Amino acid sequence: MGTTVLGTGSCVPQRRVTNAEMEAIVDTSDEWIRSRTGIEARRFGGRGEQNWQLSTMAARRALEAAGVDPLELGLVLVGTISGHMLMPSTACFVQAEIGATNAFAWDLNAACSGFMYGMDTADRYIRADKEMKVLVIGAETLSARLDYTDRNTCILFGDGAGAAVFGMVEGRGLLATHMGSDGSLWELLHMHGPESSNPELAVEGATGPFVRMSGKEVFKYAVKAMAASVDAVLAKEGMSVDDVDLLIPHQANMRIINNLAKRLGISAEKVFVNVPEYGNTSAASIPIALDEASRGGRMKAGDTVLLCSFGGGFTWGAALMKW
Ligand code: ACO
Repeated sequence: MGTTVLGTGSCVPQRRVTNAEMEAIVDTSDEWIRSRTGIEARRFGGRGEQNWQLSTMAARRALEAAGVDPLELGLVLVGTISGHMLMPSTACFVQAEIGATNAFAWDLNAACSGFMYGMDTADRYIRADKEMKVLVIGAETLSARLDYTDRNTCILFGDGAGAAVFGMVEGRGLLATHMGSDGSLWELLHMHGPESSNPELAVEGATGPFVRMSGKEVFKYAVKAMAASVDAVLAKEGMSVDDVDLLIPHQANMRIINNLAKRLGISAEKVFVNVPEYGNTSAASIPIALDEASRGGRMKAGDTVLLCSFGGGFTWGAALMKW
């Protein structure tokens, strides 16, 4: 018996922002963005598309696909760093909206690894209580947290939400997970909170609640950490990349994905990619990709699927599952 994805769902905002539109905002070009990142467009939220609203829609679609009633849920987790409020959590908004009145709910801050950490947490709750069903969401509206004068960061990110319902099923599910963090490298990718009303607690050098990043350093660590995590989960199961049918990596950018695939020795056909269409949706990237891969027929029952992520913290992780 294993903790298994019972159903997936996703939701992205209506507004598709092309690289050409980014050219009107910052000093950049479609050619630069495509050649460095592979990104062609991203979605930016509009009215009625707050983080919790995208999350709720993704959750409803996942529950429907799973055939699970919201009342069956014991836990709702949202991996996010861009909720519209600091309190309550986005998870509480979703819990109320879908009517999951038997569930407790909280947000989980692990940046781009939010969904992976959520899935690992869900697995541990479900193994302790085999009847439990857990809704895990990864959702971001980072378009509200970008500095549109910083061309190093604002061209990379987009909004969206993805969700999965987990429960215990015979003969399928998670085989192994491996999660890691390194807080000593926080400065390379970070976002300050709102300004402090207590001058004593003001953070020196804070530059607003926007994503800040040292791109080259992040690139280096991202590939190294994801590859190490993948090696760790494969080793736990005595498998090699040849046993993997589909790799769903964090959709940060094409160069990171290609480098990772090369390092792992996995062929491009086995790697799921949608970053050209959505950019980097942080915690939402893996569940959106999982939903698209599932609905698009990229996985069949019994396939070995590998997920891996990397994000601010630093945080990273990998998970191996039998689909
Ligand atoms: N448009 C045009 N020029 C730009 C832009 C832009 N949007 N951004 C930077 N440049 C310029 C720089 O100013 C620099 O110019 P200079 O040489 O005159 O100073 C030049 O392009 C090269 O800049 P680099 O930073 O060296 O570009 P690099 O080749 O490293 O690519 C990139 C930048 C794409 C950000 C790369 O470092 C990268 O992929 N990093 C990973 C970052 C990432 O994906 N983070 C997401 C969050 S973490 C995660 O999800 C894994």
